[in-house]
Amino acid sequence: MLTTKYSLILEKVIIALNANNNPSKGLEASFNILREGFDHYDWVGFYFADHKAKILHLKVFSGIPTEHTTIPFGKGICGQVAISNKNFMAPNVQEQDNYISCNINVKSELVVPLFLEEKNIGQIDIDSNTLSSFSEQDELLLEDCCELISKTYGSSLLSL
Ligand code: SME
Repeated sequence: MLTTKYSLILEKVIIALNANNNPSKGLEASFNILREGFDHYDWVGFYFADHKAKILHLKVFSGIPTEHTTIPFGKGICGQVAISNKNFMAPNVQEQDNYISCNINVKSELVVPLFLEEKNIGQIDIDSNTLSSFSEQDELLLEDCCELISKTYGSSLLSL
């Protein structure tokens, strides 16, 4: 169950998704809501999975630009999620031996896969400049966001 604070943010995301027919715009609006809604969300982005080339492509983000706009499957936390299809919470990114640093200020990270018809088509990545900042609430919220994004935009997400 989401706490009141998390439920309120989720409500705002639902409104933003319903208000935007264009998936890029809906994702951008949602990521801005997430980043502005929580002090511990410093960067929020969506990496799309190209399964043929085995590369993740950054499609939409909120926060400072990163040079890591493409990530091979298996590399970094994002690349590992592309293969495992499971949430990855890193309370301290310094302790990760397979990690790609986008910004030296980042201390913890949470990556949650987004499924379309049971296929992992990408992931939401959240960076935090605070150590151990993510909880089960963040995982639940992101899982809900991923499900809503998938339901709202369906296969149009494949041509983001
Ligand atoms: N830290 C990620 C790379 C993406 S940036 O955080 C935006 C990783 O290890 O995959």
